[in-house]
Amino acid sequence: MIAAIELAGVSRLYFVGDTTVKALDDLSLAIEEHSFTAITGPSGSGKSTLMALIGCLDVPTSGKIYIDGEDTSGMSEEELAYIRNRKIGFVFQHFSLLPRLNALDNTALPLLYAGAGQKERRERAAAMLERVGLKDRMRHRPSELSGGQKQRVAIARALINNPSILLADEPTGALDSATGHEVMELFHSLNEDGHTIVFVTHDQHLASECSRIIPIRDGRVDLDAG
Ligand SMILES: Nc1ncnc2c1ncn2[C@@H]1O[C@H](COP(=O)(O)OP(=O)(O)OP(=O)(O)O)[C@@H](O)[C@H]1O
Ligand SMILES: [Mg+2]
Repeated sequence: MIAAIELAGVSRLYFVGDTTVKALDDLSLAIEEHSFTAITGPSGSGKSTLMALIGCLDVPTSGKIYIDGEDTSGMSEEELAYIRNRKIGFVFQHFSLLPRLNALDNTALPLLYAGAGQKERRERAAAMLERVGLKDRMRHRPSELSGGQKQRVAIARALINNPSILLADEPTGALDSATGHEVMELFHSLNEDGHTIVFVTHDQHLASECSRIIPIRDGRVDLDAG
């Protein structure tokens, strides 16, 4: 069986002045298709670095990353962009919605970049907002939505190109616990629909709802934890 995501001996070093930060240190892991995984670990342990690498937003200093069995290391910027747009959806802690656009247009944005026409964009974005439970909030701008609703719009936008993998870096970090649970419920139902889900959380309770927890410490999988 091919893993949805595989990292083999991945290191990511940051060079700042004359110091070197080893954010990821020879990390290897595999994440199965259709699984639901939580990444946990202390602040600074390398979780966001790991997510950015899996999401092809960044490239490793050394080691290899495979998405659906495909080695991304030799890929051109164009090929990486294709993987980012088609195979992976990314959700951030602070939603990163455009403030002037309503929920519908925020959700449709990746389709605009992909060159889809207006009618198709509107229809697909509306269907996706309905999927995340925001049918009656399509014309609201981000400032007219609650935190949980904003995160749902961000999730709808991440899913608009129907990626198999959904990555979320502390998607509930800016939400109260009840709203955080609602977002988790949405992830569960997306996972049931077949999406592979990987998310970062500091909340052990949320992590325990997942099929797997990968604890990270000092840029490595923490074999002593979990
Ligand atoms: N762009 C950067 N330049 C230099 N160092 C960085 C950069 N990004 C992250 N780091 C360093 O790499 C290490 C890992 O950072 P990362 O953001 O991956 O941690 P994290 O586990 O996501 O932490 P948190 O839980 O606080 O979000 C940290 O020591 C951080 O200071
Ligand atoms: Mg982080």
